[in-house]
Order: sequence, then C-alpha cells, then structure tokens
Amino acid sequence: MNGETNKLNLSRRQFLILLTHGGWVAALGVLVYQVSRFMGARATRSIPTPLVTAGTLADFPPGSTTYVSEARAWVENHQGNLTALDAVCTHLGCLVQERKTAVPGFHCPCHGSEFGEDGAVEQGPAERPLRPLHIEVTPDDQVVIRT
Ligand code: FES
Repeated sequence: MNGETNKLNLSRRQFLILLTHGGWVAALGVLVYQVSRFMGARATRSIPTPLVTAGTLADFPPGSTTYVSEARAWVENHQGNLTALDAVCTHLGCLVQERKTAVPGFHCPCHGSEFGEDGAVEQGPAERPLRPLHIEVTPDDQVVIRT
C-alpha cells in the first residue's frame, strides 16, 4: 500500500494486526449474540405462573380429570375433593397424558412411565411420583392452583 491509498498510514504489519483484532472482536460479538439469544429463548419458554385460576368449580365436575394448560396440571375431582398433579413427568420432563384405560392414571408418551391417579409411579423409568400441587376453591367458586 502506498501513502495515497493508505490514509491511516499503517504498515503492512499494523494493518494485519488490526485486521486480526477486528476478526476477534467480530467473533466475540457473534458469540455474545448467540449466547444472549439462547438465554433469551430459555427465558421466554412457557413457564406457568405460580398462581393460576383454572376456572370455576363447575368446570371440574365430580369424577372428572381435566388438564389445565396454564398450570401444566391435571385436576381431578374425587367425589367433591379436588386434587392437582403437576403434568411434568419426573423422568425427563415430558407432559404426561391421561391414561385411557379402565384403570385411571397417567401415561408418559416419551419413555412409557405409568402413574396412578394419585401420581404414584406404577412403571418406570420414572422413579419419583408426579408432584402434587396446592389447589383451593375461593369463596366465589374460583379454582386456584399454585404451581
Ligand atoms: S420423560 Fe416420561 S418417561 Fe421419560
């Protein structure tokens, strides 16, 4: 490069050092961007809020098993007694489905774990029961789940 085209008056060595450092800065910028994108994606996944109004008491008639997506929970009404179970499988975190057999309970479609209607493990690979959630009915018949 001569003096007319090289207005910064850099030597070849200085130019290459500047170019190399610029490459490192660009690579670092890409890395920071990708990490922040990854962290942002994790933060915006659908995470249930700690307190979910699942509906009114009439939405959960006796004998029913109802999935409440906002809480990721199964709500069961056993003769007027409401219970709620976390629908997240304790094996690797898939959502369990209501078992459509004569014996009530839940089935995990991912690896085949089976849970009783009380959330107890009936068949692995899951080793821990489904997590019970706090559920209550407010004086105005709203069903509230604490996740
Ligand atoms: S995630 Fe449910 S059995 Fe593996």
